Amino acid sequence: MSVLGPGWTALFYLVAAVCFILALKGLSSPRTARRGNAVGAAGALVAVVTVFLSAKLENVPLILAAIAVGSAVAVPVARRVQMTQMPQLVALFNGVGGGAAALVAVLELGHSGDPWVRLAVVFTMLVGAVSFAGSAVTVGKLQELISTRPLLFPGMPVVMGAVVLGAVAAGGLVVVTGSAGWAVALLALGLVAGLLLVLPVGGADVPIVISLLNAFTGLAVAASGIVLGNVLLLVAGTLVGASGTILTKVMASAMGRGVTGIMFGAFRGGSTAGSTVQSDRPVRSSSPEDVAVQLGYAQRVVIVPGYGLAVAQGQHTIAELAIALAARGVEVVFAIHPVAGRMPGHMNVLLAEANVPYESLKELEEANPEFPNTDIALIVGANDVVNPAAKSTPGAPIYGMPILEVAQAGQVVFLKRSMRPGFAGIENELLFDPKTTLLFGDAKESLTRVLGAVKAL
Ligand code: TAP
Repeated sequence: MSVLGPGWTALFYLVAAVCFILALKGLSSPRTARRGNAVGAAGALVAVVTVFLSAKLENVPLILAAIAVGSAVAVPVARRVQMTQMPQLVALFNGVGGGAAALVAVLELGHSGDPWVRLAVVFTMLVGAVSFAGSAVTVGKLQELISTRPLLFPGMPVVMGAVVLGAVAAGGLVVVTGSAGWAVALLALGLVAGLLLVLPVGGADVPIVISLLNAFTGLAVAASGIVLGNVLLLVAGTLVGASGTILTKVMASAMGRGVTGIMFGAFRGGSTAGSTVQSDRPVRSSSPEDVAVQLGYAQRVVIVPGYGLAVAQGQHTIAELAIALAARGVEVVFAIHPVAGRMPGHMNVLLAEANVPYESLKELEEANPEFPNTDIALIVGANDVVNPAAKSTPGAPIYGMPILEVAQAGQVVFLKRSMRPGFAGIENELLFDPKTTLLFGDAKESLTRVLGAVKAL
C-alpha cells in the first residue's frame, strides 16, 4: 500500500533533485565539498524513502535484503580505502551503477510494448553494459591487476567497428521484436564494446576515462528514468551525465589532451605509449641539513606537492615545515598542478587534511608567473607535473600538458626516493640540471629530518 499520494511524491522528488544540484555546487570547491557530499547523500536518502512510501512495491523483504548486502559490502570498503585508491573505488561504484541500470532495463523489456520505451530500454542496456565493462577495466588498470599500458591487438579497430555495428543491429531488433534473445546479444556486445573501448587507454589517461564512463552511467540512468516513468531518475541521471562530461573536458584540457586523442590515440601509435627509463647519469644529491639551510635562509619558497607526498603521507610534516619556515620570515606557498597526484583535487584534499590554509595554495596559472621571483622550488614527490619534456619532447606521453615552471626558480630541490620516473614513465631532464639538488628518501622521513634541521638553525 502506498502511503504518499502523487502530490507528496512529486514534492519529495523535487526536494531530492534540489539536494543533488546543491551537492554538485558544494563539490565544486574544496571548502564546501564535505557539506556538498552530505547534502547529496541526504537527497539520495529522501529519494529512496520516497520510493518505499509511494510505490506499490512487491518483494519488499528481497529489496531490503539487497540493500543490506550492498551496504555490508560498500560501507567497510569505503571506510578502509586509501586516499590513493579513491579513483578505483569511484570507478567500481560507477560501473556497478551502470550494470544495475542495464539489468533494470532487461527486466522492464517484458513490460514495455511501446517502441519508444523499448528504444530507451536498448539505450540503457547498451550504455550501462559499456560503462560496467569499461569501469571494470579501469579498476584493473589502476589497481595494476592488468597492465597500465595501452593494450592493443592487430585488427582491433575493425573488431571494434564490427561490435558497434552488431550492437546497433541487435538494438534495432530488440526495439522491433522485443525479443529476449536479442536483448542478451545486445548486453554481450555492450560488454565487449566496454572492454575494447578502455583496453587501449594508457594508465595516465585512465582517470579521465573513469569520468567519461561516469557520464555514460548518468545517461543510462536517465534513460532508465524514461523506462520506469520515474522523473527523479531522469533528473539525477542527467545531472551525472552533464557533470561527468564537464569533468572529462576539464581534466583532458588540464593534461593538454583532447578526449578523442585519449580514447583512440594508441591506435595511431600516439603519445599514450610511454616508456620506462631509469637513468644512471650523475646528479647532485644533498643532505637534510643542507636543504634546511637552503630553505631557512630563502626569502620565497614554493612547494610543489605530488603523488609521492600522498604515498608517504607527509602532508602533516610538510604543513609543519611551512609553518616553521614562515616563523623565520620565509614566504611559503604551495603550487598545485591540476593533475598532481592520481585524482582531481588530490593535493587540495591532502593538504586540507593537514589544515594548510587555502590562501597558501596557488593554482598553476597563478603560480607560474611567480617562479622567477622564487628562491627555491621544493618538489615533494612530484615529477611529471614539473617535467620540461611536456614542452620539449613531441611524442612524450605528457607532451602538450601545461607544467609548473619550476626551472625558473633560483634553485630546485627534489625530494624523492630514487631516479625512477613518474607516472608517465619518462625521464625528467630537470633532475640533471645544474641548479637542481636531490634529497633521496621517503618524503615523510626526509621532511621530518629537514624540519628538525630548520628548527635547529
Ligand atoms: P608522478 O609524476 O607520478 O611522480 C611521483 C613521484 O613521487 C615519483 O617521481 C616518485 O619517485 C615519487 N615518490 C613516490 N613515492 C614516494 C615516497 N614515498 N616518497 C618520496 N617520493 C615518492 O606524480 P605527479 O608529479 O603528481 O604527477 C601526476 C601524474 O599522474 C601525471 O602524469 C598525471 O597525468 C597522472 N595522473 C593524474 C591523475 C589526476 S586526475 N591527478 C590521475 C591519473 C594519473 P620515486 O619512486 O623515485 O620516489
